Amino acid sequence: MSFSIERYKEESRKLDTAGIDWRGVTASPLSKGDLFCLHYMMDIENHVPLYLSHLLVTRACMDPILTAFLACWNYEELWHGENIGKFLNLYGIEFDAQDRIANVRANLGLQNSVSILSTMLGSWLLKDFSAVYLTIGAINELSTLTGYGALIRKSGHPVLKDLLSRIIKDERRHYAFYFNSAKEWLTDNEKAQRVDRWMLDRVWVPVGQGVKTQEQVDALALYLFDDEQGEEELLGIDEKIGRLPGLSGIKLMSRALYAARERRRQDPEWAWRLIDNEEWAIAPPKKSPIGELTTRRTHADEAVSAYEGM
Ligand SMILES: [Fe+2]
Ligand SMILES: [Fe+2]
Repeated sequence: MSFSIERYKEESRKLDTAGIDWRGVTASPLSKGDLFCLHYMMDIENHVPLYLSHLLVTRACMDPILTAFLACWNYEELWHGENIGKFLNLYGIEFDAQDRIANVRANLGLQNSVSILSTMLGSWLLKDFSAVYLTIGAINELSTLTGYGALIRKSGHPVLKDLLSRIIKDERRHYAFYFNSAKEWLTDNEKAQRVDRWMLDRVWVPVGQGVKTQEQVDALALYLFDDEQGEEELLGIDEKIGRLPGLSGIKLMSRALYAARERRRQDPEWAWRLIDNEEWAIAPPKKSPIGELTTRRTHADEAVSAYEGM
């Protein structure tokens, strides 16, 4: 698996959706589980620009190759979220994408700022922070594309398959960048390997956790991967990450699945109730209404002020 940043800069572009049969979106049904996953995935794709704020405060971003990658990566991820949103809208689920994104962000509250500060501090204290950051990037991209593959399989929806297969191609390039960069950093660097492994065993969480609750993360994992093939795929991710220097035998994704199973064993309703109850709407934030955070007024206010201006 090779990666050239020069080639990536040249070739990076917005997701090509030419020829997708958007009219066929409603022709095949989706299960509640498929819809739950699509909302989760859309929210996390749409969260990337804010996630970037964590990345740009770290020591890792002294590297111009990394910032060049992030500039293109952020743009590509934007179109993943946009197109999943479009798919859901066409399927008949009504929401305003901008309001939804603003609500997800507003609900993060103080936790987001604390997380940025601790990432910043950690990166400046730890010389080998980049190794951890790059490895987490590799796991996130690989688990994302594996998740899309699992959703294609579960849903059997032809248009969704077409859309997600195109997104998967982008995610593969992202994975190749992170994996190769992490490998470079870790090769012949035993200290970085120790730090990386220590941190991953303690601070790593599945992609989306933090924006999503533990129960939502578990619902996604149990819907997509709680069968023989799913478990094998997660073990496959661990095996690939374990090929990085110093990480042989590491168990992350499979461990997360087993922990989700254990939580469901203790509470049989756990996770599935979110899917059953169709809990994929995003509640408006209790504090800081989005109008305050975005300076956008509510639609009702807009209508009133437009009327007053007449
Ligand atoms: Fe993506
Ligand atoms: Fe990606």
